[in-house]
Amino acid sequence: MKPNNLESLWMPFTPNKAFKKDPRIIVSAKGMHFTSDDGRLILDGTAGLWACNASHGRSKITEAVARQLEELDYSPPFQFGHPKQFELANRLSEIFPEGMNHVFFSNSGSEAVESALKIALAYQRSRGKGSKTRLIGSEKGYHGTNFAGISVGGMVKNRMYYGSLLSGVDHIRHTHLPELNSYSRGQPEHGAELAEDLERLVQLHDASTIAAIILEPVKGSSGVYPPPKGYLERIREICTKHDILLIFDEVISGFGRLGKATGSEYFGVTPDMITCAKGITNATIPMGATVVQDFIYETMIENADAPIELFHGYTYSGHPVACAAALATLDIYKEESLFENAAKMAPVIEEAAHSLKGTKHIIDIRNIGVIAALELETKEGALGQRGFNTMKKCWDMGLMVRTNGDTLAFSPPLVLNESHVDQIFTTVKNALEQVD
Ligand SMILES: Cc1ncc(COP(=O)(O)O)c(C=O)c1O
Repeated sequence: MKPNNLESLWMPFTPNKAFKKDPRIIVSAKGMHFTSDDGRLILDGTAGLWACNASHGRSKITEAVARQLEELDYSPPFQFGHPKQFELANRLSEIFPEGMNHVFFSNSGSEAVESALKIALAYQRSRGKGSKTRLIGSEKGYHGTNFAGISVGGMVKNRMYYGSLLSGVDHIRHTHLPELNSYSRGQPEHGAELAEDLERLVQLHDASTIAAIILEPVKGSSGVYPPPKGYLERIREICTKHDILLIFDEVISGFGRLGKATGSEYFGVTPDMITCAKGITNATIPMGATVVQDFIYETMIENADAPIELFHGYTYSGHPVACAAALATLDIYKEESLFENAAKMAPVIEEAAHSLKGTKHIIDIRNIGVIAALELETKEGALGQRGFNTMKKCWDMGLMVRTNGDTLAFSPPLVLNESHVDQIFTTVKNALEQVD
């Protein structure tokens, strides 16, 4: 099953040279497991890439996709519609926070972010506030890899190679306070006051120049940082006070990862837009969505200065096959009460993760919902090496983990049970004891 030449492919976010010398090849997946090319079962500790929330090989999705390809393989999304995209938008409105009844489809989290930021600018202009053009992000934020996303994002390696990025962008501080919050269970106690950093930017730039701020409710890709208690609430207050749109990037926190349909619902903080992707189709078919409050959509429609109110879209926006996959995925989430199972398993994961305190190399443990992170001490002069070696050791021992630098992240499919949790944390403990 091994591809005989690995050279032609340029793999994303991968050290290509090292990978091709010692590849990790996945050939199939079912339920909670991948199968490697040497026939080993690998427990999926990461739902692929925070994405396969309903686990793998779900026949309901496969059948819906196959049926859709037979019935309508494609229809153009500009000026023409097909039934499933309307149905899916309605279904999403039902599970997203009240007032968020309008959905713009794209093909990835990065595009959902790009769409949200463009909608924010176009909305401000359409209501006569065209000077509100500034976009705010945060340090340690991850919003995908397109230019707007890396501009508002706060991960240095994702930004430093790409020139001066989008202009008119600023960042608030991150909320990682290891000296105060190490080994917090769930939301840390300290750091709500860091929301005032948005006030600082308002004082610096004036609210009349700021269109929107985008934040992940839980920072995921930069290393799993749940928001301090009270932080998101305060951000919401400042946005409302200064008439700044609040965008929650829920590409990870959406679709049950925190035990609710959205992080917004989990935290009880309603933004003006939500971006999502990944779990929307269980990652089977690429899809992203930007869900907006009614007032944004209605303003854009009412104030349109041309027959088309938003000059934006993609060839594959609301692709029929992606819509079919998403509808089947939403059915599974509901029929199998997977968000509820996630809520039930969250304390089990918390307990198991924190039981590793004191294990070799670990300097912090963070968790929320069905997400946990083990931060390892960085080897001198070799940032990320220990994380990488642990990931490889886990792979050899039959477990997929995700690394960011020296932080190991866990986000298994939401169908998991106690024995999966046990296997994940027993394996990683053993792996850590064996790596340098
Ligand atoms: C919060 C967040 N936003 C955006 C993205 C980008 O999504 P994609 O890789 O589908 O473009 C990700 C991906 O991990 C993410 O975690």
